[in-house]
Parts: sequence; structure tokens; C-alpha cells
Amino acid sequence: MTEKPAKPARYASWTQGKLPLPELSEMKRRGDKIVMVTAYDAPSARLADEAGIDLVLVGDSAGMVVQGRESTVPVTLDEIVLMTQWVARGAKRSIVVADMPFGSYETSDEDAVRSAVRLVKEGGADVVKLEGAGAMVSRARAIAQAGIGVMGHVGLTPQSATVLGGFKAQGRNAERARELVEEAVALEAAGCFSVVLEAVPAAVASAVTRRLAIPTIGIGAGAGCDGQVLVWHDMLGYCQGRSPRFVKRYADLGAVITEALGRYAEDVRSGSFPEEQHTYAMPEEELAEFEAALADVEAR
Ligand code: KIV
Repeated sequence: MTEKPAKPARYASWTQGKLPLPELSEMKRRGDKIVMVTAYDAPSARLADEAGIDLVLVGDSAGMVVQGRESTVPVTLDEIVLMTQWVARGAKRSIVVADMPFGSYETSDEDAVRSAVRLVKEGGADVVKLEGAGAMVSRARAIAQAGIGVMGHVGLTPQSATVLGGFKAQGRNAERARELVEEAVALEAAGCFSVVLEAVPAAVASAVTRRLAIPTIGIGAGAGCDGQVLVWHDMLGYCQGRSPRFVKRYADLGAVITEALGRYAEDVRSGSFPEEQHTYAMPEEELAEFEAALADVEAR
């Protein structure tokens, strides 16, 4: 009998090929935590994949952390399609989730399905994510019925930050907390395979997590969720300004990059870069012939 290869410790499950979507619910059932991170390009997606991250989200947070905007609202469907293509090339095991940007799904179920199809067909996304409940439950249902995996997102939904009064925690009173539970339950009933809970009290997120059979992925929602998600630039210290209080910083890439660029500038200015090892040589006889030709030209 051949022995099964040992699972690398960093993987909670599945090591062969793409993580199957139904495996996420199995992970919830087993109590294995689900790990999601955002990424916006191929090398980052490859690193996330190699680190054993379960889901890579091509978030519309790109609008803020990559494009330097004040909000996620201006991000376009074309931009998410393009970034999803890059990410899909890097993510082999991780499930690629493409965020549906503002304006790409609110208008009708048909528009929602059309946009989701583009993200999967042109972008190479495995599944999509949309924000909100209410009328968005119908959008989620339409996408699920079209055969596309859809992730919900409630609590702080950045695309509606203006209506919510800013980037503020949600569900901090009993009435709104109860509504949040109902929203998540409605998204599950609509066919979502998972729901993101953003910036909600830990007690509310835990209550939602207990109520749902599908996994909850928290960001600023406490340890009771079935999984966690963080934004690449926030968690790796590769961003400007202050990060939200729920971010844990695992590296300080900004400082590493600034220091490296500073040394590069110094080397160029002092002439110590490039060195011999960074340049191309040519065969001696070719060089001699070239110099003779140059001398010929200069002599004319
Ligand atoms: O766009 C994004 O990065 C997100 C996460 C914060 C969940 O939606």
C-alpha cells in the first residue's frame, strides 16, 4: 500500500490542485479556519497561493490601496476584470474571488449576471462577491442561479460608506444587529456560498456564524467567524496612512522598500552600481572589430 504524502502543516485541507468550493463548508463543519487575503496582481497571488491561503480576493479595495483613491466607488468592472486575469495566473490552489464593483450589479438581476459572467469568463475568477442585502439578495440569487458561486458581504459595505455615514462599524445596537443576522440569513437562502462580515461587533458576528451553515469570513468581526480576510497592503505594511483598528500588521514592506530604493539611489549617484557582474561582455575579436570600425568613422 502506498503511503499518502504528509500534508504541509500550513494547509488546513486540500493540497492537490484548486480548492473545491464545497470544501469551504466542510472546513466550517470541521472547525478548520478559512484564510482569505486580497491580491491585485500575479506575483502577489502566487505568494498567497504558496503560503497556503484558501481564497484570494481581487477586492475593489484596489481603488484605495492600489489606485490611491479615497473610496472604492470609482473602480470599474474593466479594472476588476483585468486584475482578476493577473491574479488568476498566480493562484493555482487558492479560490479566486472577484469583487463586483459599484455600478456593476445594483441596477438589475440581468446586469448582475452579465457582470458576474464577465468576471468569470474574461477575468478567470472562480467566484464573485457583492456587497449588501435588501435588493442585492435578488442579485445574489440570480448570479447563483446562473451557476456562478457568489459570496455576500454585510456590515460595513464600503461601496455604500456615504449612506452608512462613513467607514464605521455596523450593528452596534440591538436593532441593527438583528437586521444584520437577517441579512446574512437571506444571503444564505439566496444561494451564497459564504458571507463576509465587515466591522461588526464580535458577538454579532458569532451569532451570524452560528446561524449559518455556510462559512462567515470576518474582517474586524472577531475570532468567532469561520475565517478571516485582510487587505494585502494593510497587513503587509505596504500602504500610506493609518490602517483600520482591526488590521494586524505582519510585515513592514513599506519601510523595506523605501530603504532598498534609498540604497539603489545612493549606488547610482556614487557610481557603485552597476558593477561588472551586472553588465554584458562581448567576444574580444568582436570588440576589436567594433573599435576599429569606430576609429574609422571618427577618422573621416
Ligand atoms: O475589497 C475588499 O478588499 C473587500 C474586503 C475588505 C472584504 O471587500
